[in-house]
Amino acid sequence: MGFNVAIDGPAGAGKSTIAKMVAKNRGFIYVDTGALYRALGYSLLQAGVDTNDKEAVTKHLPEVNVELAYEAGEQQVLANGKNVSKEIRREEVGNIASKISAIKEVRAKLLDLQKDIASKNDVVMDGRDIGTFVLPEAQVKIYLTASVFERANRRYQELIKKGEQPELSQIEADIEQRDYQDMHREIAPLKQAEDAHLVDSSRMTIAEVVARIEGYIDEVM
Ligand code: DC
Repeated sequence: MGFNVAIDGPAGAGKSTIAKMVAKNRGFIYVDTGALYRALGYSLLQAGVDTNDKEAVTKHLPEVNVELAYEAGEQQVLANGKNVSKEIRREEVGNIASKISAIKEVRAKLLDLQKDIASKNDVVMDGRDIGTFVLPEAQVKIYLTASVFERANRRYQELIKKGEQPELSQIEADIEQRDYQDMHREIAPLKQAEDAHLVDSSRMTIAEVVARIEGYIDEVM
């Protein structure tokens, strides 16, 4: 087994930014598991499958092959051989990913891929159920969160920088909806693992969060 760092938490808590930095500092591979759910969601969208129809989604699963590849240390996600890393970042795809991730067959399809990469490499893996379910033996587990207001505000600032005109209240509502969906599904819902360190980044800088997590790694490495 590689050295495994699991980072779970709600949407918009800064998991990917932080996990990428920790991975880079340590020479580990960064694995963004949300991208796998998004790639499946994107394929379903492209194929015109009704993502509210569980049976239709399940039936389509064997048609999609999701893979991870690394280009200059950056994770790329492939769906049936096509690099979909950019397309999957759309808000719509994230919402579909959240919806279909409640389906048992969807989670089962992606589980081995995640376990396999963590068994062969030192990884920082982020998601919703990494510490609780995918890598219960991870040496370091982090539950990274921030208040809804703080997460919405960060997202709002990002969109403003991109030249968009977002509604803060709408972003807050979307975040609450996604939290609810991710925390209340039956299988592997988002929750803090008993042995995870809770890091609330609401009043912390990125550098402070990275240093805190690296401190936890140093304690056991
Ligand atoms: O982290 P993200 O926003 O890219 O993830 C998109 C959705 O995928 C998320 O709302 C729930 C699902 N997901 C999951 O169920 N388990 C994971 N380990 C990662 C993501």
